[in-house]
Parts: sequence; C-alpha cells; structure tokens
Amino acid sequence: MLTPEKLLLENKAWSEEVSRKDPGFFKLLAQEQKPEFLWIGCADSRVPAETVVNAQPGEIFVHRNIANQVITTDFNCLSVLQYAVEVLKVKHIIVCGHYGCGGVKAALQPQKSNLVIANKWLMHIKDVYRLHQDELEAIDPAKKIDRMIELNIIEQVYRLAHTSIVQWAWKHEHQPTLHGWVYGLNDGLIDELIKLDYNTQIHPIYQYAD
Ligand code: CO
Repeated sequence: MLTPEKLLLENKAWSEEVSRKDPGFFKLLAQEQKPEFLWIGCADSRVPAETVVNAQPGEIFVHRNIANQVITTDFNCLSVLQYAVEVLKVKHIIVCGHYGCGGVKAALQPQKSNLVIANKWLMHIKDVYRLHQDELEAIDPAKKIDRMIELNIIEQVYRLAHTSIVQWAWKHEHQPTLHGWVYGLNDGLIDELIKLDYNTQIHPIYQYAD
C-alpha cells in the first residue's frame, strides 16, 4: 500500500536514478524553465499530464482542475494562462479531458447537497450541455456521456480563444496554437478533437479589440 513515507522513499530513489543517468539534470533545470506546452487537464488521478505523453520535468506547464475547465472568471486558471503565454511564451495550449470523466458525469446529475462548492464549478458544464442539448438528446443514450465529454473539451478550447490573453498573443505573436484532446482510460490513447490557431475567426461578441 502507498503511504506518505513510501512516497518520500520513492522520491529519493527517483532523484538518485535521474542524477545517475544525467548528473547535470537538476542543476540545469533549476536555472530556468522553458516549457513549450501549457496543459490544462482534469484533476483525475488516472490522467497524469507528463506520464501519458512521456514528458520530462521542465517540458510542460500544468494546470489541472475538475473536468479541465477554462472558466473566464477563474483567476487561478487565468493566471496560469497569462504566465504561460506572456512570460513562458508557450507554443501550444492543450486542453486534455478524458472519457469516463466523473466531473462531467456529475454535471449531468441533479446537484448534490454535500457538494455545494463543487456544484457551482460543475454549473459551467451544465451550460455546455444546454448549449448542445439538441445534439445530445438526439444521440444513442449510451454514447451521450462520451459526446458530452468531447463537447466539454471543445468548449474549453473556444473559451481559451475568447480570452484577451490568447487573442492578444495571436495578433502579435501568432502563438499559441490551441488543442482539444481526449484521453481514453481504456487504452491510454489520446485523440485530437479540435485545433485552433491565430487564423481563427472569433465571433464578434468575443473579439478583443487591441
Ligand atoms: Co475528469
């Protein structure tokens, strides 16, 4: 069984192993980070960002929350986004959701009385459902949740595109490219659902005029 003590022992072993293979690894990495990717993923323990794409420390700037949402009043996500775009100048922003997402499933249920805060977070996913209600209620019920998970990811990519942060960077630096990915818990594979770059036409009501 995993315990905090075991985690610390594993950490020691990992650090020693990395240093043995590449003695300068930590020294070099301690100087600065230059990740080319921002990863916005679900907090789900089964979708660890670096692990599923075999990335190393220093390669991906990561933000994770329940159901990989980009909520345009969430200073946490927006601060990560701003820093990634303005300072780190990442080339790609990936929103990676996953099939079997408990957050999306919960959002399609009535609100639970013991989750008053989480309910509010999930409210934004209920809005995604309502936005695509005609499509979702017309498809095979067995496929509904998977499609809802995909639509939620796509919607978050559009929300990124609607931010002044991304639009400013698109206009002035032609970066970053936005990607919506879905991860399969059953096979560990990722599919791309949507990709938007600086040529994307933003609906006038979301346009940032600078
Ligand atoms: Co999830």
